[in-house]
Order: sequence, then structure tokens, then C-alpha cells
Amino acid sequence: MSHSIICVMKYGYFDDQKREYVITDPNTPYPWINYLGNEDFFSLISNTAGGYAFYKDAKYRRITRFRYNNVPIDNGGRYFYIKDGDTIWSPGWKPVKTTLDSYECRHGMSYTRISGKKNGLSAEILYFVPLGIWGEVQKVTLRNLDNRTRKFKLFSFIEWCLWNAEDDMTNFQRNFSTGEVEVEGSVIYHKTEYKERRNHYAFYSVNADIAGFETDRDTFLGLYNGFDRPAAIEKGVLQNNIAHGWSPVASHYLEIELAPGGSKDLIFLLGYVENEEDEKWASNGVINKQKASAMITSFNTSDKVTSAFDDLSAYWDELLAKYEVDSGDARLDRLVNIWNQYQCMITFNFSRSASYFESGIGRGMGFRDSNQDLIGFVHQVPERARERILDIAATQFEDGGAYHQYQPLTKKGNNAIGGNFNDDPLWLILSTSAYIKETGDYSILEEQVPFDNDETVAQSHFEHLRRSFYHVVNNLGPHGLPLIGRADWNDCLNLNCFSKDPNESFQTTENKSGGVAESIMIAGMFVLYGEEFVHLCHKTGKDREAEEARKHIIAMRTAIDKHGWDGKWFLRAYDFFGNKVGSEENEEGKIFIESQGFCTMAGIGLEDGRAVTALDSVKERLDCQYGIVLNNPAFTRYVIEYGEISTYPAGYKENAGIFCHNNPWIMIGETLIGRGDLAFDYYRKIAPSYLEEISDLHKTEPYVYAQMIAGKDAFRPGEAKNSWLTGTAAWNYYAITQYILGIRPDYDGLIIDPCIPREWVGFKVNRLFRGAMYHIVVKNPDHVSKGVSMIKVNGSVIEGNVIPIYEKGSINTVEVIMG
Ligand code: BGC
Repeated sequence: MSHSIICVMKYGYFDDQKREYVITDPNTPYPWINYLGNEDFFSLISNTAGGYAFYKDAKYRRITRFRYNNVPIDNGGRYFYIKDGDTIWSPGWKPVKTTLDSYECRHGMSYTRISGKKNGLSAEILYFVPLGIWGEVQKVTLRNLDNRTRKFKLFSFIEWCLWNAEDDMTNFQRNFSTGEVEVEGSVIYHKTEYKERRNHYAFYSVNADIAGFETDRDTFLGLYNGFDRPAAIEKGVLQNNIAHGWSPVASHYLEIELAPGGSKDLIFLLGYVENEEDEKWASNGVINKQKASAMITSFNTSDKVTSAFDDLSAYWDELLAKYEVDSGDARLDRLVNIWNQYQCMITFNFSRSASYFESGIGRGMGFRDSNQDLIGFVHQVPERARERILDIAATQFEDGGAYHQYQPLTKKGNNAIGGNFNDDPLWLILSTSAYIKETGDYSILEEQVPFDNDETVAQSHFEHLRRSFYHVVNNLGPHGLPLIGRADWNDCLNLNCFSKDPNESFQTTENKSGGVAESIMIAGMFVLYGEEFVHLCHKTGKDREAEEARKHIIAMRTAIDKHGWDGKWFLRAYDFFGNKVGSEENEEGKIFIESQGFCTMAGIGLEDGRAVTALDSVKERLDCQYGIVLNNPAFTRYVIEYGEISTYPAGYKENAGIFCHNNPWIMIGETLIGRGDLAFDYYRKIAPSYLEEISDLHKTEPYVYAQMIAGKDAFRPGEAKNSWLTGTAAWNYYAITQYILGIRPDYDGLIIDPCIPREWVGFKVNRLFRGAMYHIVVKNPDHVSKGVSMIKVNGSVIEGNVIPIYEKGSINTVEVIMG
């Protein structure tokens, strides 16, 4: 990318020491957000304190309200207002938007610190969810920077959601009459529907006496005002109203006096509580507040908050110490060591459910998505990865097929976003093999796992993998290639759909029967992950099973050779009628990225040059300044037999957008043929830390990947959308750490197989693997891209490039010479 011609536009900077991105201008090109919480209670928080909180499930247990696609953007959050004389301001700039004397937002690992200064006063708020706690702490530090005593007013504000976020946004005829709250001391409780079918309530507290409160939104704001000009704050008093129906909110009012140079900490806590049926009430109509009080007490001093915050930092220290690179390139190091790993943990927690592009009510945990996310975090939290794999497997059908998603609260699968995606089952083999390579824990294969959550039909997890494998074998088309079903990884390649009705969804509408649509991407996947299945069979003494499986893989290779090659690249598919998709013969959509990625990753065409030819075609036809587009030429008309892919304007999303999720497949393919320069060039083009200077164009956060960057055919190439929740995080992490830097866990050891740009002189990696630490120093004296001429472990040369497994707790030095 030529930086010289692009005007540099940054809104902050990386503070790598603190593992923070520091935003210095609140007027970012899009809200730049962060996530709080690591297990059950979660919050989204933007750089101006917008966002919302929920317990486990963003749809069914939404705690605070948020309006997506609102005007202005990102309205609603956890806001503080300061009324200092006639001046009203917010430390995070929004919602009041009074010009601040200074502003800063530091997004860190599961915490956000927002501070503002105005007229000699400063306010800093530290937001985080302590480990193991169902609540968000907001520690407000107020300082008087002046040399005179200052008196002013502080107001807090949140708006409750009536729990089910979808119902909350639609069912107004009921909802405007259901809202209920209670107030006791400085604590405001939200208890809508608690008296009947809910066992939970939420609360918002502060550890100080208050001068007043408000729980009725319309009184607080004034019916015709926005969050920027609450009528109550303009007046400067709250009226202690108890909300009845309409929209309950929680606002505390505190009067503050600070001596010159003085400061004051206040601790606000937004919490969630569940009570057993027989413990719901303190007395008739009065909720049992014991658990809330206990939680409030555990955070009622600054020391207690600091200690919880230290625990959170230690938690992240440990997670991030498992893989660390020192490459000499700060942009690469901060992405690999901090932000990419962080994003992988976020996708682990959220799958595709709640971000600023995913409303939290549309999607749960994806079968395909969550399996892939696992390759990005399994080294960090292997035990939780194990649990996740088994949760996903428990939703599988007996024939090996899968629901496309399940709800995190119930862990049950559903068809709300469609089903019959024939790639789904294979991803379970990927995640399981990645888990076993990381941990060596084969016992997962023996776990008894239900089908469709029905315990009476439980089988071993190995059997689930077998059914995944045979789901492909049992669903082959006329060319011996896998039938695509509703679609494969590309949700929008709907080859059996034929939709003419704008009111039906491509993902859920009835498919047309009798077609023969086949996917060459699934064929490549089958070869790649089928081999892992064969490995697992051998490793567990099932040699006959392995032999049988191998025959199917050989047959699939033959089918790809015969029917999957177009001359210069791999075909993408055959459509409903058996016509080629992704061929030179087609007018548009001649070449697609997915089959080039999966076939080359599977090693197809490595011996006879087809892999190189296919990747050359990718370079020639799909690559552009901002990354590799999905297909080319883009579709300019609706192709009914292809479905949703051809509905997007050219250059966006699945129609020739740069779908960052699949770019790493090409990077990995490039490393298999040894082209480290190209592999890294592809990596850098879409890596957010390298795009910081073009934030005005790129728009989304420079510290996390976006799902999609507009491609070369788009109106504005380079503009990103859908940041945070995307398989891009895991796949890029996997590509850079395991294939470019080439430190790759395997069943019997740690493979060292870098494929780097020739100009690199080397790099260092610390890798914790099966409990042993490896300090790896790679030197590249001859400036090659690939090839290892010597490896010494603890001073002794080893044969080959697989480091055997050393004792848990041992610290080992590894010296690698490339050449
Ligand atoms: C979905 C993925 C899918 C991708 C490509 C994403 O929105 O979460 O499951 O593979 O789009 O269509």
C-alpha cells in the first residue's frame, strides 16, 4: 500500500506496554468499541460509553437497552453527566457533546477507561466486569484541578431493557405497561416480570448517599429531548419518581464538593441477580436483595475494586503469555501478542451474536462459526475449548448433519437462521483435531455426547466425528463431489434456493428439490479434515476404520482431479442443473477464492503444479490493494440460481468483497508452496494494525479485524464493516502463528516450519505447549522464505523439524536456522 499518497488520519495510538488502544479524538469514523466480561456477564462499550450489558444471552437476558441503527449513531449507554454551574458535560464527550478540554478513551483487555476534563475538573471512569461477578463496575474518579473549592452535581444514567431484547423492541402494546422498579437507599432495582415467570432482577448502585434519583425516562429526559439534553439535569434536580410502566431507567444524583487539588472515588455497580423460587421475596412485593447487597459490599471501596482489577490483569497476563512473538515489527507484534488473541477470545464468548453490527437478537452461537473460532483460542483456554466442542457436538443430528446455530442460554440448536449447510459437520473435525494437537487429550473422543441434545441417543464424541465424515460421503452428487445443501461456508451461495419473493430469507426459505448442486470447497475441506479423521482413527487404534476412510478421501481427490479443475484454477461448484460455477466459461463469477484456499490447503495439486497455477490466478484476478476479493468478476445482475451472493452490489460482502475470513486460506496455501513474501503481503493488507493511518477510509477499529472490506469493484474500496465478530480473527491468528511464523502444534510435537518474507533476518517466539515453555529463536542468514536447515533444542541438534514434547514446567531453548 502506498502510504505516501494517502493522507494519514489517526484517532489515537497503541500503548503496547499497557496493552491498550488509546483514542484521543471521540469523533471516530465509527464507534470504536470494546467488550467487558469473560464468562457470564457481558457488556459492549464504545469509546463514548455507549453500548449495553447482558447476562449470557444478548437476546434473552438483555439488561440495558440499546437502539441499533439509531440517529445519531451509538445513542444509549452508561452515561455520566456533570453539571458545573450552567455547564453540562460528559467525560466521554457523548451524549452531551460539550467540547472538552481533553478527552481520552483507553480500551484495554476487558476494561475501558474514559476520561474527560472541563473547566478545571476531571472525571475518569474505569469500566470492567470483575472475574466471576455478574456485574459491571464503574469506578468514577473526580478531581479538582483548580485552586479553589468546587461544588458540582454528578448524575448517572442507564436505561433498562425489559429483558427479551427482541420483544423489547417490538411489543410496545404490552411493554409500556409492564415496567417495575424498586429503590432502597442508593440502589435502584429493575424487577419487571419478576413476580411471575422470571427469577432474576438487575440493579444499579453507588457507594455513597444520593441527593435524589429518577427511574422514569420521560421525566428524566423530557418527552421530546434526547440523551444529550435531559430536562432533569438542566433543572439540576431529580424528582425521586418510581416508574410504573413506560420505560424504566436508573439515574443517581450526587452533590459533590472537592477541595483544591482534591479527588473523590465513587463506585457504581450494574448487577444481575438470580433467586431460587422460594427465596424471591423479602416480604410481599418486596424483592429479596441479599445477593445484590453482598455483591455491592464486595465492591464498596476503591481498594476492593483495585484488587479485582489486578486479578483481571493477571488473568490476561496469563492468557497472553502462551504465545509471544518478537519480530522487530511493532505492528505485527501488537496484533499477534495482544489484539488478535484478544479478538479470538471475544469471538469465543460471543460467536456472531452481539457487536455493533450484530444486534444480539439475530444470531446465537454458530455451529460452523464456533468450531472455527476455536483454532484461535484453544491454546489460551483449552478446558473451555473442550467444553465448547462438546456443547456444539451435542446439537448435532444423528445423521451427522447440524443445526446452524444454538442459543447460549439453553445450549439447544434451532433453525432460526436456516439449516442443511453441508460444510457444517466437517468443522467439528477441525476443532476437535486442533484441540487434541494442542493438548494431547484424546479422552475427549470417548466422552458420551447426545445427538440433538437427547441424552438417550448419546454416543462417543469419536462417533460424532465419524458421522460428520460420513455425512459428506452419504451426500455426494453426480460428479462424486459433495452436495452443497443450502450452502457451504459461503452462506450466500444458495444454489438450491431460486427465490423470487423479497419477503423470504435466502437462509430459511424452502429449497427447491431435485437439484444436483455440488461444492468443490467442501470437497477440499473433506480431503483436508478427512485426513485429520484418519489420523485420529490411527491414534486410537482404529486402523480398519482409517483404511476405510482413506478410500473415500482418495475417491474425493479423484473427483476433484476429474471434475474440479478449470484449467487455471479450481472450480467453485456445480449448480442445481449441473452447470459449472466459477469457471472461465461463466460470464461473471469466473473464479472464487474458497475452492482455491481449501484445495491448496489440502495439498491438492502440489505435485503437478496446479496449486501454484491456482494461487497465481488468485494473485492475478482476486488480489487488490486492500486484500483478496471473494470472486471475480463481481456479479452485476441477480442470478436466481446462485441466490444471495448476487444480490449484493458489486464489491460488497460475498459479492467480490474482501471477506477477510477467507484470505488466510490463501496465505496458508502460499506457505505450502513456499511463497513467504506473498503470504505475508496478504496478511499485512488486511491486518488492522497496519491500517491505522487510513482510519478515515477503513472506518472500523484499528485494533481488530473486520469481517469485510469493500473490494476493488466497490464504490469505496478499502472501507470496512462488521468488525469484531468474525472467523477472520481465528483464521488470521492461525495463519500467522502456525504457517507464516510456522510454530505449529501437532499430535506428537511442535512443528517448526516458518514461511516468511525473504528480507526478514529472523524472529523470536515464546510458546507454551502442553505445559512446557519453548523460547524459540529463528535465524534466517541466507534470506530464504522457507526451509529449516538446523534445529537445536537445549543445545542439542534434533532430527527433522518436530520438537518432541518436553516435561510440563520445563523451559526449553530452541535455536532454528533457516536455509
Ligand atoms: C457467517 C459465516 C459464513 C460467512 C460467509 C458470516 O456472516 O457467520 O458462517 O461462513 O458469513 O458467508
